[in-house]
Amino acid sequence: MIRISQENGVRTLRLDRQEKKNALTGQMYTDLAEALESGNSDDTVRCHLVCGQPEVFTAGNDIGDFLQYAGKSGLGETPVVRFLRALVRNEKPLVAALDGIAIGVGATLLMHCDMVFASPRTLIRSPFVDLGLVPEAGSSLLGPQLMGHARAFELLCLGRAFSARKAEMAGLVNEVVEGDVDAAALACAEEIAAKPPEAMALSRKLLRGDTQKLSERVEEEIRIFASRLSAPETMAAFQAFMTKKTA
Ligand code: COA
Repeated sequence: MIRISQENGVRTLRLDRQEKKNALTGQMYTDLAEALESGNSDDTVRCHLVCGQPEVFTAGNDIGDFLQYAGKSGLGETPVVRFLRALVRNEKPLVAALDGIAIGVGATLLMHCDMVFASPRTLIRSPFVDLGLVPEAGSSLLGPQLMGHARAFELLCLGRAFSARKAEMAGLVNEVVEGDVDAAALACAEEIAAKPPEAMALSRKLLRGDTQKLSERVEEEIRIFASRLSAPETMAAFQAFMTKKTA
């Protein structure tokens, strides 16, 4: 589930499905999307903070959920699609706190964040190709822009894990925090929330630039991703994960 709270202009979205390593279900995507969407028109929300649990930010999309989309003609208006679109349309600053594994969408959503804090034990990984899939959340466009083609290839195609330090060097993480990473991220979110909101909104919009290309790329990725869900190599990878878990 997603625990949502709000204080001092910061809306905190805490991923809380620890027993499944915070793997994201349809309901969790819906809750995240709703929070981001409603935040756009809520003046009391000055900043969003997304965080996880000790040792785990998220293990990415729930693989069992993926299986239910296999064989379908597309992903339509599924919760994950709604969430990806909400990320692109999000107008409020977004801060993330990572303490542990951040896999798949847990890695790619960072590219939409304005500030990312990570503990030293954080590991960021996106094994899309290993699963027969392709990068999502606009990461095929944002990744190379952010860290250059070579590092984006390493993360998004090769599926290599990035430590917090490596992610910091790549520009994906702002700060590696030795102490309480959630507290450091919250302090930053409160700092953002205390700034003049109109100037902040205008400045952030200028920095992000035209999001039309990003939006188009997200839709293109969704189409390819959806078709890959039924590919034999993808089915084999999912079955291997599920079988390992039931063995
Ligand atoms: N989808 C569904 N369930 C998941 C999951 C996911 N993405 N990631 C972890 N889980 C579940 C496991 O099935 C397990 O459930 P169980 O206790 O009922 O068997 C539970 O979470 C704990 O995971 P486990 O694999 O036992 O923990 P671990 O510490 O050995 O490994 C991970 C943690 C995250 C490295 C490993 O679970 C993993 O690789 N998960 C898949 C990540 C992934 O490929 N995500 C998709 C990206 S597109």
